[in-house]
Amino acid sequence: MLVLGIETSCDETAAAIVRDGNQIVSSIIASQIDTHKRFGGVVPELASREHLDKIVPVVEEAFSCAKVEKPDIDGIAVTVGPGLVGSLLVGVSYAKAMAFALDKPLVGVNHIEGHIYSVAFENPPVVHPALSLVVSGGHTNLFWVPEPGKYKVVARTRDDAAGEAFDKVAKLLGLGYPGGPIIERLAREGNSDLVKFAVPRMGDGLPDFSFSGLKTAVTKFVRESGLQPVNEGETPSQEIKDLAASFQSVVVRSLVGTMENVAEEYRPRTLIVAGGVACNGALREASSAAAERLGVSVYFPSAHLSTDNAAMIAAAGTVKLQAGERAGLDLNADVTLRLGNIDVEEEALKRAGARYRL
Ligand code: KG4
Ligand code: ZN
Repeated sequence: MLVLGIETSCDETAAAIVRDGNQIVSSIIASQIDTHKRFGGVVPELASREHLDKIVPVVEEAFSCAKVEKPDIDGIAVTVGPGLVGSLLVGVSYAKAMAFALDKPLVGVNHIEGHIYSVAFENPPVVHPALSLVVSGGHTNLFWVPEPGKYKVVARTRDDAAGEAFDKVAKLLGLGYPGGPIIERLAREGNSDLVKFAVPRMGDGLPDFSFSGLKTAVTKFVRESGLQPVNEGETPSQEIKDLAASFQSVVVRSLVGTMENVAEEYRPRTLIVAGGVACNGALREASSAAAERLGVSVYFPSAHLSTDNAAMIAAAGTVKLQAGERAGLDLNADVTLRLGNIDVEEEALKRAGARYRL
């Protein structure tokens, strides 16, 4: 089955052709980083305009790279949410027009579910139940996935997403955008013991995440220590590197500590770590160590599949198309689309069963 995936939820215009849900035939990503860089974050109006300019050439390139003719695809999968409305609408409108013109089946895909499917490539098939951490610039969620297509949110961020925290801290240290890769690079040369940031915990005992307090703690440290943000073109000082390492270390401890605690309770067979922040080497190392302690497998997408791409959307869409799901031409963007659809009681029973079997 050949599926065309289209992704335009944020600042990447992407199209991919995927065979049988796990082989990338082509994957094209047009990044808008250069457009948004000087603003230190994504500007929605600029993003949608750029998607309009790029959607046609990106889809054409996906077909030409794949050496596939348009009538030869078996379906189209497009991101319908969550994301920026103007951006999402470009992809959704284009996918609907193409599905209509080619008379091909169409499905809408949740962007976060797409991130979870990014491990469908370059990994063995996921053994369920799985526990999936999705960490990106817009989301930080831990999902219990008892079987394919069923999700329960077991932890979420109460404020900023983990990637957003990387971006904001990088901005306040004058390091540029996107912050994650820059902080990771500096952290490699830094001492993570410089500042002992505490792992944020919820007063109500729930395993949720919180990163905005951490950003405030970094701001406070900078103010009290008199540390100067880096000016453009300047080499970051050792103190900046140490601060980057300390910040990264607490974010990783928070994410992996929670994932491990929840895994001890839920007993998954596989851990999945996906989303842009999954590029982070320290997060990968700590997740692998946790998986080893738990005696389970851990899957990561490779770096080019961790950040936004359309191959993951095609992979998630393939499963839906194979299950007979079809979207009509009334398919619309849903800015606040959620993932997490399991009835809690039903799920608790299953969990008890799963544990009993173990
Ligand atoms: O998944 P993604 O491309 O877009 C969203 O759906 O948000 O994730 C982008 C986010 C940015 O916040 C970026 O700073 C972060 O992923 N990121 C990283 C790394 N590479 C990208 N964060 C930490 N370490 C990295 N190496
Ligand atoms: Zn994303």
